[in-house]
Amino acid sequence: MTPLLETRDVGKTFGSVVALRGVSMTVERGGVTCVLGDNGAGKSTLIKILSGVHAPDSGTYLVDGEPVRFGSPREALDRGIATVYQDLAMIPLMSVWRNFFLGSEPPARGPSRALGGFDVATAKRVAREELRRMGIDIRDVDQPVGTLSGGERQSVAIARAVHFGARVLILDEPTSALGVKQAGVVLRYIAQARDRGLGVVFITHNPHHAYPVGDRFLLLNRGAGLGEYGKADIGRDELTSLMAGGAELDELAHELRRTDTPS
Ligand SMILES: Nc1ncnc2c1ncn2[C@@H]1O[C@H](COP(=O)(O)OP(=O)(O)OP(=O)(O)O)[C@@H](O)[C@H]1O
Ligand SMILES: [Mg+2]
Repeated sequence: MTPLLETRDVGKTFGSVVALRGVSMTVERGGVTCVLGDNGAGKSTLIKILSGVHAPDSGTYLVDGEPVRFGSPREALDRGIATVYQDLAMIPLMSVWRNFFLGSEPPARGPSRALGGFDVATAKRVAREELRRMGIDIRDVDQPVGTLSGGERQSVAIARAVHFGARVLILDEPTSALGVKQAGVVLRYIAQARDRGLGVVFITHNPHHAYPVGDRFLLLNRGAGLGEYGKADIGRDELTSLMAGGAELDELAHELRRTDTPS
């Protein structure tokens, strides 16, 4: 089966900084590819290539098996590749349903159509239905987005991308600012999107968030891919130790130990 997305040996430099080199990954229909790596590893640079913000300097990027060269995020979106950024581009004081549509509201049917009016009843109903289909229970779609929890807000952004026809959902650290319970909420929607046949790219530096939903794991270290593993090829403990940089933590513990302990 042709993957939805594939990169082959992609690289990107910014001036003298090599942000990515020789990174290969795939995203399948109904699969979750997790991209893991420490701060500065190149995770955001990689997803900016996938989402059309940057063009790679080397290597090939394929969508549905065809090489592409996106000039803008709009072009990626037209191929069904939607990105949910951490800041989410939502307006906190606006209602859930307005944020759900944000510029793509269904037009009014009456004379106010000419004035740019929209069909509020339909918009609210669609927002409520789409959220419910994703298993998101928002009591009142009139409530301001700013009153939702972080996990719920992420979930609204995911439901919106799915509603507007995303085939691939790219999530840049959607769980990093969240506690255990809220992260669980977002992980459930990632699984829902996967079960609806979307391909998901899930960026995180938390292997405990990645492992339960991931099908593939790409580890990045200072811009280089340390390989893409299928779930059968890597255990949770192995992933955690690769991520945690076990040796570096030991070194740090050594450096931080008390030297003034009375003997
Ligand atoms: N537009 C840019 N101009 C110059 N350097 C950049 C640019 N974008 C990224 N870099 C550099 O590329 C490297 C990788 O950055 P990137 O943002 O992809 O890392 P990351 O894995 O997303 O890190 P974090 O976990 O902190 O979000 C860093 O050294 C960064 O400083
Ligand atoms: Mg980043």
